[in-house]
Amino acid sequence: MEQQNQFRHYVKAIYRLLVILFIMVGMITISGVYLLVDPTLSAFKKEEFNSTYVRTIEEDEDKIENGVHLKTGLVEAKGLMEVINNCTNCHSSKLIIQNRMTTERWIETIRWMQETQNLWDLGTNEKIIVNYLVTNYPPKKKGRREILTNIEWYDLQD
Ligand code: HEC
Repeated sequence: MEQQNQFRHYVKAIYRLLVILFIMVGMITISGVYLLVDPTLSAFKKEEFNSTYVRTIEEDEDKIENGVHLKTGLVEAKGLMEVINNCTNCHSSKLIIQNRMTTERWIETIRWMQETQNLWDLGTNEKIIVNYLVTNYPPKKKGRREILTNIEWYDLQD
């Protein structure tokens, strides 16, 4: 009987130890996961409206580095602001940078957007914009490969 009591005592002690261990592991896991989600503990910090912070963001927006407008990636040149103001409202400037076209094709693209995508009349800015585009994003002399000619297209059978 005495031995049985002692055994029971041990089991209880071990059980208590396990519970404490379990809780500790649980707490560490939870705080670990929390730190992963919010490493700066920003949820506990009071949000301050800091006017100097806002000003630096605005200044950064139009920062030019190595001849490139940082926020949009567009080349710094005459007409840059007109392009930013008229061409980055609906889509990323990447769409412009990725495309290299002749004057006619840039105008065609603008007309296409005006006819189908609600692009507004650019007025006197159109000349400035097209000039900027064709100066800084003209067609490349040679692409990765020449355009294929004389292709014999065939119909897919279904
Ligand atoms: C009113 C909205 C709007 C404005 C402003 C706008 N675009 Fe677009 N543009 C579009 C839409 C919509 C597409 C199609 C996007 C797509 O296919 O994901 C597009 C596509 C393009 C493309 C890709 C065309 C192609 O053949 O894939 C280029 C280049 C482009 N725009 C340049 C410009 C330029 C330059 C300006 C400034 C003159 C401009 N966009 C202003 C709406 C606009």
